[in-house]
Amino acid sequence: MATLELDRLTKSFGDGFVALDSLSLSLASGEFLALVGPSGCGKSTALRLVAGLETASSGEVRLAGKPLTGVAPRDRDMSMVFQNYALYPQMTVFQNIEFPLKLRKMPKDKRVAEVHRVAELLQLMTQLEKKPAQLSGGQRQRVAMGRALIRQPQLSLMDEPLSNLDAQLRVQMRGDIRALQREFRTTTVYVTHDQTEAMTMGDRVAVLRDGRLQQMGSPEEVFGRPKNLFVARFIGSPSMNLVYGQLEQSGEENSLRIGSQSIKLITQPGNQSGRLRSHAGRRVVVGIRPHYLKDPIVTPVPNGEVIQGVVRLRESLGTETVLHIAVDAERFGGKTSSESEEVTLANETRLIACVDPASRAQEGETVRLAMEPSRLHVFDAETEESLL
Ligand SMILES: Nc1ncnc2c1ncn2[C@@H]1O[C@H](COP(=O)(O)OP(=O)(O)O)[C@@H](O)[C@H]1O
Ligand SMILES: [Mg+2]
Repeated sequence: MATLELDRLTKSFGDGFVALDSLSLSLASGEFLALVGPSGCGKSTALRLVAGLETASSGEVRLAGKPLTGVAPRDRDMSMVFQNYALYPQMTVFQNIEFPLKLRKMPKDKRVAEVHRVAELLQLMTQLEKKPAQLSGGQRQRVAMGRALIRQPQLSLMDEPLSNLDAQLRVQMRGDIRALQREFRTTTVYVTHDQTEAMTMGDRVAVLRDGRLQQMGSPEEVFGRPKNLFVARFIGSPSMNLVYGQLEQSGEENSLRIGSQSIKLITQPGNQSGRLRSHAGRRVVVGIRPHYLKDPIVTPVPNGEVIQGVVRLRESLGTETVLHIAVDAERFGGKTSSESEEVTLANETRLIACVDPASRAQEGETVRLAMEPSRLHVFDAETEESLL
């Protein structure tokens, strides 16, 4: 394990296209960073630069404080696992995992002990004598993971290693990879386009868009205090509800006018209220997450603010009920959300609310949804930056 620093790392390709634009971030020793963003945002490019498979246009990578510029990939003491992992087909599972230790000339008895330790963690003990062709996709991926981590490199790089697996297996492997990483305390950069994967696995999450870092922080931070609209809608499922509103101020009080309704906005003391003040009377984008919209009849929200709308669709998921509510508000379109389709289907603005299944809100009914004002997000409509 070692610290890792990316210092203004930039990569442009032949035609001048900038795939990675001055990416700076640092990982503590033993930290697990999830690097997440939509397809084409530069994640693999970043990883390939760290591995030395690609040469940076400018900027540098430092591992344990030492610049890696000019160091060949094989001398970088890193392991890399890709979506399309390759195992040696003629070797057994045992031999595949053992291979890096053999290269290192570790004594046989120690090798056996190490392989067994890793196989135990990855639930491969009963598979050790099989060849890769006899394994399921998930088992093969585990072998690849075991082989990458057994030699305890200073840095582990993983590029969407679970993309080929079915949903259930992905969930299980998420836990397995973290367990293995905690055991070895290997500093890890894990690339994924899946925000759930990033949130559940990362000690910290770095959100990348068009080659630029948008925000880096703990899962709680990027979820609870997104810096801009891109992060706000990329992180969290279902996606944050976003509508246009007008910021109104009287004295010390801020409120938001949304269509014909008005809700109070409470800001924490010292919470950059200056930025809000300069937006008084202006058009802003208001955000509220689906799980923070409650049906107050079954989930009272003391001192909650209320927004009213008509239930267009009610979906019972068992553990929760999803309500699609038509509200009098102007929808924030934007172009960056994959889930905005849902909201735009009808020519009206809809909020998604994930409420308690005890809610009796019926389709066609006018309902009041309650929220804690502290759960609201406010963004500048032009710069898309958070005003809170
Ligand atoms: N060798 C290359 N030459 C030109 N463009 C490239 C090359 N490799 C990647 N790109 C471009 O750089 C951008 C980022 O690619 P990549 O890092 O693979 O994205 P991601 O892994 O986030 O999906 C994409 O637009 C891709 O087309
Ligand atoms: Mg990629």
